[in-house]
Amino acid sequence: MPAFRAARGTRDLLPDETPRWTRLERLAADLATRYGYRRIETPMFEQAAVFERGVGEVTDIVEKELFRLSPRTEESESWSLRPEPTAGIVRAYVQHGMQTWPQPVKVYEIGPMFRYDRPQAGRFRQFWQFDIEAIGDPGPAVDAEIIELGMRFYTDAGLTGVKVLLNSIGDAVCRPAYIEELTAYYRQHIESLPATERDRLERNVLRLPDSKDPAMASINAGAPRITDRLCDACAAHFGGVRAHLDALGVPYRLDPGLVRGLDYYTRTAFEFYIEGREGQQQALGGGGRYDGLVELLGGRPTPGIGFGIGLDRLLLALEEQGPAGGDAMASDAPTAVVVGADPAATIDRLRIATRLRADGIVARAELGQRKLGKQLEAAARDQAHFAIIVGDELANGEVQLRDLPAGTQKVVGVDDLAREVARAHQAHHHGS
Ligand code: HAM
Repeated sequence: MPAFRAARGTRDLLPDETPRWTRLERLAADLATRYGYRRIETPMFEQAAVFERGVGEVTDIVEKELFRLSPRTEESESWSLRPEPTAGIVRAYVQHGMQTWPQPVKVYEIGPMFRYDRPQAGRFRQFWQFDIEAIGDPGPAVDAEIIELGMRFYTDAGLTGVKVLLNSIGDAVCRPAYIEELTAYYRQHIESLPATERDRLERNVLRLPDSKDPAMASINAGAPRITDRLCDACAAHFGGVRAHLDALGVPYRLDPGLVRGLDYYTRTAFEFYIEGREGQQQALGGGGRYDGLVELLGGRPTPGIGFGIGLDRLLLALEEQGPAGGDAMASDAPTAVVVGADPAATIDRLRIATRLRADGIVARAELGQRKLGKQLEAAARDQAHFAIIVGDELANGEVQLRDLPAGTQKVVGVDDLAREVARAHQAHHHGS
């Protein structure tokens, strides 16, 4: 056992795994850009109050899972690692006066999040999200745009069988009466409520319907649902979201039990699931509208909507679906490996590789001093397309270019090498 190990619930992503991550991150960034969302980067830690106020004081994320940083001095503010990016992005929106920019402000962020949760399959203490936010558009069209974007991401990633669960959870107009009704309902069951839920009954009854405690399942099944009690404006908005999704051909399932675990949500709420794995714990992604959050964090009343897609869970799901899951394509194999008959001639090999790299080719140079046979074996193991063999021809400005999968070899001038490698590599990948 080594003396030091990565902390529980965290992992090292080793070089064999990172190409699959890089692929997903690129896909996410390309897709977001195509849809007109621009990159934002917010800090990985914030004042804890951003999350306490934004996500909500009486939520699992804040009460149980916040990674709080201990203050350095007595006067220090209280900081916390970010459990999610939305509150920080909205904090930045307010801080930088983005309400004066053309609305809506559409942004995306990809990065690690931190939740002090009990680690288990698909649940980590450091995990990665692809997050999208559109701030300043009341919808309903943008709600559908965002849900469609999420579905397109899964499809392009190669995952099949993803479903959207959709709900509307009302707003400040329909909620007060609902809260009263809900409180009355749970009071009838107070004897059967676990301690956390009993405590939350008076502090934040809206969190009870999404409790993960198994003891709550049957009680929650009978609880009144906001979806049946929407005010006219919320009902019209929800109808609009569905009409836009229908028109785009995005399939979804209405789920009146879907409430989400963060306090900031209003109206549209949705989650992405893989068919047959619709357990509470295993959402691939989720999001919704947060029309009160900008104001809550000190800005002018401004609507917003977004999603967070868990990249760890997406990769796990892709693995379960096997190589057909589309991520088998991810590779960082070199296009060319420069080898040589004279093991000591590292200068020649490094110079040739340096020129290839300058011309944009993914090249490795054999810098060790082993025999040519071993060098070629290593090139094949790397799944390189070409071995460039440096030998006596170098005196005439030439090298041998060996196509490893094809088993063919020819003499190429060093000055033409990059062009020749690029051309042959391209042709190979386009099957001609
Ligand atoms: P969330 O549902 O808390 O929403 O998280 C979004 C996704 O992050 C989950 O569906 C899941 O895939 C992934 N995730 C969450 N916790 C973990 C964990 N411990 N381990 C692995 N993956 C995890 C939000 O975070 C909202 N900010 C989404 C949003 C954006 N709503 C509006 N805009």
